[in-house]
Amino acid sequence: MEDIKKVGVVGAGMMGAEIALCFASSGFEVVMKETTLGLAQKGKDRLSGVLDRAIKKGTFQGEDKDSTLSRLTPTDKFDGFADVDLVIEAIFENAEIKKQIFTELDGICKPDCIFASNTSSIPITLLATSVSKERIGQFIGAHFFSPAFVMKLVEVIPGVETKEEIVSFMMECCRKINKVPIRVKDVTGFAVNRILHAMWIEVYRLLEEGVATPEDIDIACKLGLGHPIGPFALMDLTSNDLNLKVGEVLYDTYGERFKPRPILKQKVYANHLGRKTGRGWYEY
Ligand SMILES: NC(=O)c1ccc[n+]([C@@H]2O[C@H](COP(=O)([O-])OP(=O)(O)OC[C@H]3O[C@@H](n4cnc5c(N)ncnc54)[C@H](O)[C@@H]3O)[C@@H](O)[C@H]2O)c1
Repeated sequence: MEDIKKVGVVGAGMMGAEIALCFASSGFEVVMKETTLGLAQKGKDRLSGVLDRAIKKGTFQGEDKDSTLSRLTPTDKFDGFADVDLVIEAIFENAEIKKQIFTELDGICKPDCIFASNTSSIPITLLATSVSKERIGQFIGAHFFSPAFVMKLVEVIPGVETKEEIVSFMMECCRKINKVPIRVKDVTGFAVNRILHAMWIEVYRLLEEGVATPEDIDIACKLGLGHPIGPFALMDLTSNDLNLKVGEVLYDTYGERFKPRPILKQKVYANHLGRKTGRGWYEY
């Protein structure tokens, strides 16, 4: 771990930008790559507000805001990735494009650089096949939770070929950025999304049957179950298109018990995706 100095993050969307911030605020140099420089800069700009909120809440454990942000370089090229020690990929959920990126990076990054994916639903073992046999043992899943700068948990997922020392490295790396890692097998949905989506299926049914409103179901989960956020508010945060995509992947693997509910599909058809489109189960 002492050797780790620089981290490369691919994707500066909802997850990538905040994952980059986790590393920058813990003293690592970070290069954050997007499809355009404008998007990379936009991802970085959003982090100022994220840091302000953490400082206000007293949860920011780094030095000052300016030096944290100065360690994070937005880019639209992989040039700065040649000397990174760890790559975390957080582009949208598409196996083919993720694999293309890893193959490209395999030719750019130094031989001992470790590759991690933040995928929610694509098997790590499958993504790992995109790199050379020399690197495949250094490929691992690191599944952060949204909002990534705030949520403590990271699921660390070894693929079939991942070396044991890389698992230990990733667990230690998470601790270095003040996260709490758990080790999970490379099964569809890992652990947390299986628990979450099983609950959401019942939540959608409650709504379809008119048992209670989204507002009241959220209150029920917060005050009756001690959840910090209600399921509908959380779905709007994670976005309903991704929720449906993950639901479909779980259905493919585990069958009927994860079959996506019609009411969720309807929300996606209507483009009521959540906070990112200004309307989901709630209006923003
Ligand atoms: N949203 C969540 O709650 C959540 C939680 C855990 C894991 N994830 C996973 O994290 C990943 C990213 O999800 P997100 O919600 O941040 O998506 P997002 O759509 O907010 O961001 C993805 C970003 O990747 C960028 N991108 C696409 N191709 C790229 C390329 N070739 N190079 C650089 N950047 C590229 C896009 O421009 C976009 O900004 C997905 O694999 C998702 O499954 C999401």
